[in-house]
Formats: sequence, C-alpha cells, structure tokens
Amino acid sequence: MIKRFLVMLSAVVMLVSGAMFTVSAQSGPTPEQVAAAAADTRQALFKMLVFNLGPIVGMARGAPFDAEIAERNARRIAAMAPMITEVLAQDTRGFDVETEALDLIWDNMDDIAVKAQALIDNANAFADAAATGDQAATMGAFRAFGGSCGNCHDTYRVDND
Ligand code: HEC
Repeated sequence: MIKRFLVMLSAVVMLVSGAMFTVSAQSGPTPEQVAAAAADTRQALFKMLVFNLGPIVGMARGAPFDAEIAERNARRIAAMAPMITEVLAQDTRGFDVETEALDLIWDNMDDIAVKAQALIDNANAFADAAATGDQAATMGAFRAFGGSCGNCHDTYRVDND
C-alpha cells in the first residue's frame, strides 16, 4: 500500500517538474530572439529616419522647395536621433541576425553617441534655417545634415552604397 503510494507520488512529482520545465522553457525569449528583435527595432528606426529625410533629399535634387515640410521632417529626425544609441545598446555580435551593423560598433559606443549628436545638431541647424523660409540658406545646411547619416554609415555599416 505504501509502496503504491510512493510510486504514485513519484509519478506526480515527475509530472509537476515536467510541467515546470515546460513553463520555464517558455518563460521569456531566447538570447537569439532578443538579438533578432533588437536588430528589427534599430532597422525600423533607421527606416523612419530615411522616410523623413526622403522629401528633403527630393528638394535637394530639384523638387519644389517646401520650407514647412523641410523644417517638420528635420525636427522629427532630430527628435528620433537620440534613440540611435538606445537601439544600438543591445550588442548583437555573435548572433545569427540579419544586419548590416558592423561589429566594431560595440567597441565604439562613445563615438556612436558623438555621431548621433552630430546628426541631432545638424538636423536642428537645417530646421532653424528652414524656419526662416530662406531656401538658399536651408539647402546650404543640407550637406552637413545629410552628411551626418553617411558619416556613421561609412564606418559602422556594411558598405553597400
Ligand atoms: C550613429 C550611426 C548612424 C547614424 C547617425 C545614422 N545611421 Fe543609418 N544605420 C546605421 C547602422 C549601424 C545601420 C545598420 C543597422 C542594421 O542593419 O542592423 C544603419 C542602417 C540604415 C538604413 C537601413 C535600414 C534597414 O532597412 O535595414 C537606413 C535606410 C539608414 N540607416 C538611414 C539613415 C539615415 C537617413 C540617417 C540620417 C538621417 C542615418 N541612417 C543615420 C548607423 C547610423
């Protein structure tokens, strides 16, 4: 009788610990999933940056100048650019994620912050010029603004331009 009880008890213990193992295995993403999500998030931020830069690039290439859109989009970029260091904080080196981010980013986070700040400053300078409505002054500030994107890509992104 006691023996049967013990057999049942051990069966129950095995069942419960099995269930606990399943729960702990499912509780939270794997490191690979965390890395993949981090890469998705940072790529989404950069997509939003280029989405806003697009109309400004168009103006630089001869589309009609629109001071309001120029200022609005540059301010948006200045507002989003502080997130660059945040989305790059997750080190995805060594994970099999789809990315164009170069490994040396994570040995140079101070420089990443400097380059992100340069983008913020140049986007604001461009927006300030656009706020005056002066086309020549605004587009004169474009080279530094757009250049702050390429300046980081040249060092920290896979060279595919
Ligand atoms: C401080 C560095 C830095 C700055 C500044 C920067 N980028 Fe990038 N950008 C990157 C890195 C790193 C990647 C690669 C991300 C990846 O593939 O995981 C990238 C990727 C991109 C991509 C590809 C996104 C995709 O579809 O995967 C676009 C588009 C882009 N950047 C646009 C811009 C624009 C526009 C600006 C300026 C307004 C800008 N970036 C400023 C570092 C930067």
